Amino acid sequence: MPGGYPFLGHALQLRFRPLEFVRSLRACGDIVVFRLGPRDAYAVNHPDLIRQMLVTDAKSFMKGRMFEKGRLVARNGLFTSEGDFHLRQRRIIQPLFRRAHIQQYAATMRQIAQAHVDTWRDGQEVRMDRELFDLALTTVTRVLFSTRLDEGRSEAVCRSLPVLLEGLGRRAVAPIDLLDKLPTVMNYRFGKALSLMQSVIEGIIAEHRVRGADTADLLAALLAGRDEETGEGMTDEQVYDEVVTTLIAGTETTAGALSWACYLLSRHPHIQRRLQDELDEQLGDRDITFEDLGKLRFLQQVMAETLRLHPSTWMLMRSPLTVVALGGHVLPAGSTVLFSIYALQRDPALYPHPEEFDPDRWAPDRAAQIKRDAYIPFGAGVRGCAGEQFARAEMAVILAVMLRQYTLSPASGPPAKPIVRLIPMPSAMPLIVHRRPRGHSFQEAP
Ligand code: HEM
Repeated sequence: MPGGYPFLGHALQLRFRPLEFVRSLRACGDIVVFRLGPRDAYAVNHPDLIRQMLVTDAKSFMKGRMFEKGRLVARNGLFTSEGDFHLRQRRIIQPLFRRAHIQQYAATMRQIAQAHVDTWRDGQEVRMDRELFDLALTTVTRVLFSTRLDEGRSEAVCRSLPVLLEGLGRRAVAPIDLLDKLPTVMNYRFGKALSLMQSVIEGIIAEHRVRGADTADLLAALLAGRDEETGEGMTDEQVYDEVVTTLIAGTETTAGALSWACYLLSRHPHIQRRLQDELDEQLGDRDITFEDLGKLRFLQQVMAETLRLHPSTWMLMRSPLTVVALGGHVLPAGSTVLFSIYALQRDPALYPHPEEFDPDRWAPDRAAQIKRDAYIPFGAGVRGCAGEQFARAEMAVILAVMLRQYTLSPASGPPAKPIVRLIPMPSAMPLIVHRRPRGHSFQEAP
């Protein structure tokens, strides 16, 4: 592929223009070979080939170098572990994210969202990106730790996590590993945040072992979790890895998706009004429950379309365990294979007017025409998102709580754009919140 530099190959494009770069790969074929530093890398661009890699031939691939960086923080958690160990962990953890548990978490999600929205005033400008990061972090920590996080520990987690996420994002696209080891301010802050996070979470796990299961939260469920096949549970170290993995995988992802949903709704007042009408009609004056989520069809369409345009990951990686034949190419064992859900879901060959925010493309008759494997915001196969149902419930509950009470409109300032770290997060996103008269579906958006 043209455009590479000596020694670095295409690493600079990947580092500095990542979204343009991953989208440009599509025009070069279903599989493209390019250079990443000293190595050849392969980009897989066709939905059938991505499926083959993630589902049909999943056993022939491991996650690869990009995820090795994640091990610095998430060690051997579900996101970064491999092979039989991963399968065993997945068997223990997946049941904790099933319907019955999410049903219970949905009430916590609603209470936290309501408490945030209750602090807003009519006409206030809200930095929605920050607000939703806080909301997502509070939700995931409350579901994990219930009330165990006192103010000091909660503050420590909230302070450390953004530093860790930023550091991981930088490391994932760094052309050479040496950059992580230089004595820079950023590397120092990363190391400090990591030890702070470690001491807080290890402390909570140790307390739990002494006191026993005094609360019904996700941490208690992880500590009690057993592999159905062998009856084995997890050691404290493994529980620690899964707690950190949940914090990392479950905060920015949902916060980013929710921020983009709010942003898009603020710029499409007629869509926002339709959504509010649906909420008024279905919920009336009562609080939203888990059982309502399936009935809120237009809300589901808005979420589906937001996750198509802003799917939380811009590039993912795999590495073949043996030589693998894929789409007429022979991929060597250990090679770097990339795929981009972001580029896939904006491919004009798969979606008419791919840049347009059009929730009606998910109305049943039109959705049936979309190729199944062209839409994978949560990945696919055995490495697909373990928290998908959690994330969907959280997004729906938060949007419903916000939009029943407030209408969002853009504040002045430049349009938000994605800033690529580990995932594409929105830049500063100030929105004005306008209080709606309670229970009225005829409210005009300003
Ligand atoms: C809108 C929100 C989210 C999106 C779009 C999303 C997307 C994804 C994707 C694409 C993957 C697969 C990565 C790969 O194939 O390499 C993944 C994996 C994962 N996600 Fe999510 N995620 C979201 C929220 C969450 C939440 C809330 C949690 C936990 C509470 C979570 C936990 C995980 C875990 C543990 C994995 C690794 C699964 C495994 O390898 O077995 N995610 N996610």
